[in-house]
Amino acid sequence: MNVPEVVEYARGLDHVTLADEGRWSCSVDYLSRMQALIREHRINRVVIASCTPRTHEGLFKRNIQQAGMNPYLLEFVSIREQVSWVHMREPEAATQKAKDLVRMGVAKAVLLEEGEEIRLPVKQDCLVIGAGAAGLSAALNVAGQGFQAIVLEKSDRLGGMLNTLSLVRHDSHHADAAQWVQSLAARVYETPGIRVITGAEIETIEGYIGNYTIGLKGGNGSPGERLHVSTIVVATGMREISPEGAFKHGENPRVMTQLELEKRIRSSKKFQPPEDREETNDLRSSGFHPEVKNVVFIQCVGSKNDTRGCCSIGCHAAVKNALALKALDPDIQIHILYRDLSMVKEEGEMLKEAKHLGIRFSRFPDDRYPEPVENLDGTLVVKTMDILIGKELQLPADLLVLTVAFQGDDTVEQLKGLLKVSANPDGFFQESHVKLAPLEFPADGVALAGCAKSPMMLKESIEAGIGAAMRVSIPMKRGYIEAEGIVADIDLTDCNQCGLCHKRCPYSAISVDADKNPRVIKALCKGCGLCAADCPRECITIVHFTDDQVLAQVDAALLEAPEKKIIGFVCHWCALGGVDMAGVSRLQYPVHARLIRVMCSARVSMKMMLRAFEKGAAGVLVAGCEFPTCHYISGNYAAESRVRRMKKKLARSGYDPERLINVWCSAADGPKFAKTMKDMVKQFNLDNAS
Ligand code: FES
Repeated sequence: MNVPEVVEYARGLDHVTLADEGRWSCSVDYLSRMQALIREHRINRVVIASCTPRTHEGLFKRNIQQAGMNPYLLEFVSIREQVSWVHMREPEAATQKAKDLVRMGVAKAVLLEEGEEIRLPVKQDCLVIGAGAAGLSAALNVAGQGFQAIVLEKSDRLGGMLNTLSLVRHDSHHADAAQWVQSLAARVYETPGIRVITGAEIETIEGYIGNYTIGLKGGNGSPGERLHVSTIVVATGMREISPEGAFKHGENPRVMTQLELEKRIRSSKKFQPPEDREETNDLRSSGFHPEVKNVVFIQCVGSKNDTRGCCSIGCHAAVKNALALKALDPDIQIHILYRDLSMVKEEGEMLKEAKHLGIRFSRFPDDRYPEPVENLDGTLVVKTMDILIGKELQLPADLLVLTVAFQGDDTVEQLKGLLKVSANPDGFFQESHVKLAPLEFPADGVALAGCAKSPMMLKESIEAGIGAAMRVSIPMKRGYIEAEGIVADIDLTDCNQCGLCHKRCPYSAISVDADKNPRVIKALCKGCGLCAADCPRECITIVHFTDDQVLAQVDAALLEAPEKKIIGFVCHWCALGGVDMAGVSRLQYPVHARLIRVMCSARVSMKMMLRAFEKGAAGVLVAGCEFPTCHYISGNYAAESRVRRMKKKLARSGYDPERLINVWCSAADGPKFAKTMKDMVKQFNLDNAS
């Protein structure tokens, strides 16, 4: 694009005192030049037209702050990712688009108001929910930094799933799980600064970072105790998904899951805690049928299918347990039937050892699982096809072991409501963002550890526990957090106390008083804008994304040739991430889009969409994060339902509802965004628009 022409255009816009071109605007030299210009010209609003706000907004905010301005008086326009990188073959149209985007930025900037970060004190106490390997590691780490940790466990002992395992693999060797739990628990009990509460359930969680209050039921604390902590680590673990009658599980006592097998192996003398252990070690002592000579494992039961991916630990568990059985009885015959063996490099030794000991592996086809057949005498034979040798096999099975999939703990459903966080359909909690905010939840001061997130091996669980502890330690060490000042603000003048904002806020950040007047709890508000978009009386504004500011951008975008333009409302997180990715990848798409950033797609009100059509836009796009990854828990669901309602309203008002498009993408979905643009232009016949 012709940058000097864009600068010249900006210079002529109303309210613009100064327009300057910087070759490297984010360089130290240019940043100091900018500060000097702000002071010299007594500038009170700044528009930066450069790269993407997702990477550089913070830098420029700090810079204008150093020049004496309030950082909320900055507007950011992306003319690199949204213009020069994606319209490389249309310099004139690109220059025109950049001018439009600058005009939109200025239109919003003149309406910007000062804002302020919210500072909340954070004390040095943390609640760890769950006492498995991840939870205990988190507690030890928190306490090791000199903070207070409370370990809350619903069962009556520490250890979680480790209490059902026979062996665990740690630091490349096998260790006795019972012994491992004992020493871990002993360290927890001996560590100053850790309090352990067992046998307790959580009834309520109220508050926010620095100020959480947890109501308990039961447990070894005082009855009805309420805990006051600043941060929370969620380490609730996981459980097996019952095969529910499949493969004769529950019908034939010879059929069991890996964890059921683990319990049996653990009860053998060899795997009992040392003090209970006797000299003899054999298979019979573990409660197995005396004639157990042939064992068959079937992998991927309920996983690696259309609804669920690889459980990621099943292959490891099967080989580990096969080796444990071999240790009990070297003559036992073991056959592992698998679809894919997913074992990481360090597990290669384990696999080698298994093969060396004569454990056999047979690969069955994806679409034909092995079939257990019961003989008249109750014995079992497993029929399978080995696709590597191209042979049908009939394997006798004195024991048939199923490697089933996992799901989150049964407390997840309740806990996710109390913490206002999300979980996937299998009950595993979802972190804020797998790359940008791993181990974090959208709620500040709450971190996620271990198998509460997804099935993990012991080493990973411990690391995740330590990682989560480090996450919550940062604000505890600093003593406060500063929350973004983009929050909701309610003007009660026209409020009719309908309570919709209170009911719909995903963070419970709006309370209602005795007179039913809503009030924003600023420490809890994340500024998604869902309440503002839904308020029937338009009483709610979102700092930095007010109705007036967004509508001014719509108007400015459609000032000229609106019939050729698409107004796109994009959420700051995944949708804008997708837009930026299209830019970084230099994907070329038509120039018709004029994008308006909102923090979440939930912010886009019907009024905003309608305004674009009233001003003659060729189409409107509402783009947000793909389900269920909205950064504001459920904002995209709210946006989707609002778009549906809007389409009906458009039809009633005489507009073509097909010109309102909704798209959901990930931050890596550059191709999807580019394709959406191409499709819309084609659908609306914009290339031929006069
Ligand atoms: Fe992207 Fe809510 S943050 S849709």
